[in-house]
Amino acid sequence: MSAIAAASDQWANQYDTNQNHTRDLEAQALREMLGADPLGAVLEIGCGTGKNTVWLAQRATQVLAVDFSGEMLARARAKELPPHITFAQADITQPWDFAPAGAFDLVTFSLVLEHIEDLRFVFSQAVAWLRPGGRIYVGELHPFKQYVGSQARFDTAAGERVAVPVFQHHVGEFWAAAQAAGLRLTELREWFDADETTPPRLLTLVFTRHP
Ligand SMILES: C[S@@+](CC[C@H](N)C(=O)[O-])C[C@H]1O[C@@H](n2cnc3c(N)ncnc32)[C@H](O)[C@@H]1O
Repeated sequence: MSAIAAASDQWANQYDTNQNHTRDLEAQALREMLGADPLGAVLEIGCGTGKNTVWLAQRATQVLAVDFSGEMLARARAKELPPHITFAQADITQPWDFAPAGAFDLVTFSLVLEHIEDLRFVFSQAVAWLRPGGRIYVGELHPFKQYVGSQARFDTAAGERVAVPVFQHHVGEFWAAAQAAGLRLTELREWFDADETTPPRLLTLVFTRHP
């Protein structure tokens, strides 16, 4: 098991209950960015404990929620879920064989891509799983926040601080990886805490596959 998967399994115990401003702001950002319109068939990558899964399902014809952490998936499955949500346990750094290609209108990545070294591979897979005209939503800890020392971390019940392994991706790297996969950037927003003179906490991007 990778160090990231092991840390995610451990994090699952506290993920929904620890104080976590990034988790909460991303939930708000995804809801505002994707709005009230129907979402069609959704592939949610790195669903974790299902923070966004039920909300997506309320607007979707189906949601396939994917994660490589068995403990994160167990927390998500334990929530009250409509029947059109299904789950798959898979490592997205390997070829995606967990769903039919070309079947989705929207692929979402919420707080996942900082754990992925090779963005180009993941974007190339995501595009193959999208229908023409489909969208990719990315909600990430803003790289500016990484530059000043923030990263995914949590405190265990025993008071131990665990840092989850991350990779640093500059804003331009997201764009370049998406561009290489044939995607067009259609929306970019930065999300701040109350004090907008400090670095933004989140970066959100929406890309569209050419029809
Ligand atoms: C910070 S959590 C975010 C969970 C959820 N999307 C949210 O916004 O609350 C990151 C999630 O990505 C998953 N993840 C990280 N690397 C992954 C990989 N290579 N394949 C599949 N899932 C991965 C972790 O297991 C974890 O559940």
